[in-house]
Amino acid sequence: MVEFNLKEKVVLIAGGSSGIGFAAAMQFIEEGCNVVIAARDQIKLNSLFKTRKFNQSSVHVLSVDLGTQKGIEDFIEYGTSNFKKIDILVNTLPLPFSTYSINNNISQVDWETALQDKLLSYIALMSSVLPLMKKNNWGRIINVAGITSKEPSCNLITSGVINAAIVNLTKSFSQVYSVFNICINVVNPGFVATERFDHFIEQQARAHHQNKYDLQTSIIQTIPARRLGRPDEIANLIVFLASDKAGYITGTSISVDGGVSKSTG
Ligand SMILES: NC(=O)c1ccc[n+]([C@@H]2O[C@H](COP(=O)([O-])OP(=O)(O)OC[C@H]3O[C@@H](n4cnc5c(N)ncnc54)[C@H](OP(=O)(O)O)[C@@H]3O)[C@@H](O)[C@H]2O)c1
Repeated sequence: MVEFNLKEKVVLIAGGSSGIGFAAAMQFIEEGCNVVIAARDQIKLNSLFKTRKFNQSSVHVLSVDLGTQKGIEDFIEYGTSNFKKIDILVNTLPLPFSTYSINNNISQVDWETALQDKLLSYIALMSSVLPLMKKNNWGRIINVAGITSKEPSCNLITSGVINAAIVNLTKSFSQVYSVFNICINVVNPGFVATERFDHFIEQQARAHHQNKYDLQTSIIQTIPARRLGRPDEIANLIVFLASDKAGYITGTSISVDGGVSKSTG
């Protein structure tokens, strides 16, 4: 068995009540971490995490909107006041749904919302935890972006632009903080079976007057593995990158996509 040595690490997950963030939270709990999960829907958080204390780990949930400065401040404050340190930050916030296609005349407001909800939130979250990690001379940040960061698509234009910026941002930050044993990386999921993916299929099917099952089947045909990814398959990489095993991996972006991306870089 691979020993990740994550016991008692304090993990903040921005967007941990669903999909990839939730799968990562469950794996960190199994590894014996203290996990703080932020999402907006309090009822969902409470129903997902009924048990908060385990043998070696604990779960804390916080209902905040991380698209706002106040939400981010509350999240960080909650983590530091309960644990005095933050070891690992996982950013896994989605973009708003209305801003996908280049053919939709994406408005200025849509662009600003998309930037705020993912890119600017990631920047604010990273900037808040990095001084604490530097003080501890150890840290891990995993930014979940998407394969559009490397392979632009006119149907996913905001996603591509913002995910590419996240890769660039990650590289720059990693160069400054590696010397403090802080590794910062990007994970790029392909098509993963989450609530978000379901909404995406419904939205695209409506926009292109297609049956959603036919659309999903046609997407799966483009994936060499001929299936959607599972959230836990993305979480496997997140947890690995958070561990001591990945101490020499930083500033990189890794796709977990069943082979769907074509780029070699
Ligand atoms: N699924 C895919 O196929 C796919 C593909 C490429 C990239 N990705 C990327 O992977 C990441 C995770 O996607 P996912 O599919 O796991 O999404 P998801 O299932 O929709 O989960 C998103 C999580 O973020 C929370 N959240 C959303 N907005 C928030 C806000 N303003 N403040 C606080 N929490 C917020 C949601 O809870 P609340 O709604 O209750 O706030 C939920 O817990 C995203 O960055 C996405 O772009 C996913």
